[in-house]
Amino acid sequence: MIEITLADRVFVLTGAGISAESGIPTFRGAGGFWKTWRAEDVATPQAWKRDPRVVWQFYSERRLQAERIAPNPAHYALATLEQKLGDRLFICTQNVDPLHEMGGARRVVHMHGELMKSRCERCAQPFHDEAGHDEVPRCRCGGHIRPHVVWFGELPFALDEIFEALEHCDVFVTIGSSGTVEPAASFPQWAGQKTSRGRARTYYIGDEEPANSVYFDQVFLGRAGELVPKVFPG
Ligand code: OAD
Repeated sequence: MIEITLADRVFVLTGAGISAESGIPTFRGAGGFWKTWRAEDVATPQAWKRDPRVVWQFYSERRLQAERIAPNPAHYALATLEQKLGDRLFICTQNVDPLHEMGGARRVVHMHGELMKSRCERCAQPFHDEAGHDEVPRCRCGGHIRPHVVWFGELPFALDEIFEALEHCDVFVTIGSSGTVEPAASFPQWAGQKTSRGRARTYYIGDEEPANSVYFDQVFLGRAGELVPKVFPG
């Protein structure tokens, strides 16, 4: 169990591992996206410039896949924790899927964007595309519509808000992330350093040791769907 006192502020960072039991492949594990696709071909500004259709179709397939998914006990446990802690809990996810929200969480920061959203590459207007498009749609301004996700080489969203929350947390927990992609891989190091509130206690939950395990005080090994409800009992 992870002990949380009445004064504690908690920062939870989630990665692909929390969605694995909901049927979404991770990136680097067996059957992961980056085993089938080269990130350079589908998840970089250069790939988009070269051939927007290939990139658009990669994300269209992921959107179709996401229509059949459901949250698992780890998502529900975090939503319950949010009800208990209110704004003392900061949920930050690297995932672009909507599973936290489907599980009932209200305030989730999607630092790598959201799969179900799109925007104009030129004027940044959001684009509502419930109908689904095989071809890359165009905005009224003439720009291509792009997925509202962060590609390699682009800055993640909400970094100011994230670093503010890291600075003020007392408990930091990563769930299901290999600890290989920056800046998120360094969050436990930031939280574990002395901040305005002292040094946060840092925990990892996942089915194997992450690459950044040295920054965690304690590592809980196991599947998120099983462990998260146990370490944060309702
Ligand atoms: P990875 O695929 O790199 O790592 C997933 C982690 O989840 C691994 O450490 C697995 O051991 C663990 N895992 C798998 N199944 C699990 C389960 N049932 N319970 C708990 N843990 C499990 O995914 P991320 O670290 O999230 O970025 O990847 C970070 C970023 O790299 C992604 O957001 C994406 C990717 O390229 C962009 O696309 C910009």
